[in-house]
Amino acid sequence: MGESQLSHPFERMDIAPGIHLDCIRHQYAQDIFKLIDTNRQHLQPWLPWVDISLTVEDTQAFIERMDAAREKETVVCTVIFVENEIAGLVDLHAIDTTNKHASIGYWLGKQYEGLGIMTRAVEALIRYGFMKLQLERIEICVVPDNTRSRAIPERLGFTLEGTLRHYQRHNKNQYRDLMVYSLLSGEYAMKPNN
Ligand SMILES: CC(C)(COP(=O)(O)OP(=O)(O)OC[C@H]1O[C@@H](n2cnc3c(N)ncnc32)[C@H](O)[C@@H]1OP(=O)(O)O)[C@@H](O)C(=O)NCCC(=O)NCCS
Repeated sequence: MGESQLSHPFERMDIAPGIHLDCIRHQYAQDIFKLIDTNRQHLQPWLPWVDISLTVEDTQAFIERMDAAREKETVVCTVIFVENEIAGLVDLHAIDTTNKHASIGYWLGKQYEGLGIMTRAVEALIRYGFMKLQLERIEICVVPDNTRSRAIPERLGFTLEGTLRHYQRHNKNQYRDLMVYSLLSGEYAMKPNN
């Protein structure tokens, strides 16, 4: 990746009127934790980490891990703002600068669902991944019954590659399959308007 973009904070990115992404920062810890805490029932079925995010200190520790991962160039973690309120997170993680691939992960507060916010946020990170980080491949992994989440890579033209069996551990001893979707840089470049 040469002189890396990743060791520098992600710059604010306006993605639609009233909606922007910003690099995760310590000053956002309280508001991120509040959003998690008021959305536990909504998030917990899909995101195993919700059960261990019990205090604002846990969110602060998460932000510290994201800072360290950014330094190591393995993560770009961004916060989604809607009218200057924190609405959720979207990230590029497991960034492999040798093989030039990464995964996208995301979540929204329940009150922000159904408005196309996440599809646009994911589109923006895809553009960042392919254009700025020069990635070759971006993947999104989803459990099969998370239909809202699966709709995002499907809407954005990803290819379903297959299913990883019992790949994700939930609730201590429940294992879930993960469906793997991917988009390649050539496929992205061929889409109109990119
Ligand atoms: C997964 C998750 C982010 C999806 O949220 P979402 O609101 O369904 O996704 P979007 O923000 O892209 O909105 C899509 C909806 O907005 C509509 N929409 C409106 N304008 C749109 C636009 N410009 N572009 C795309 N969709 C638009 C779509 O038709 C769709 O409508 P629907 O709700 O009737 O299906 C959310 O359900 C969530 O956070 N779930 C819990 C955590 C989770 O599962 N994370 C993912 C783990 S893999």
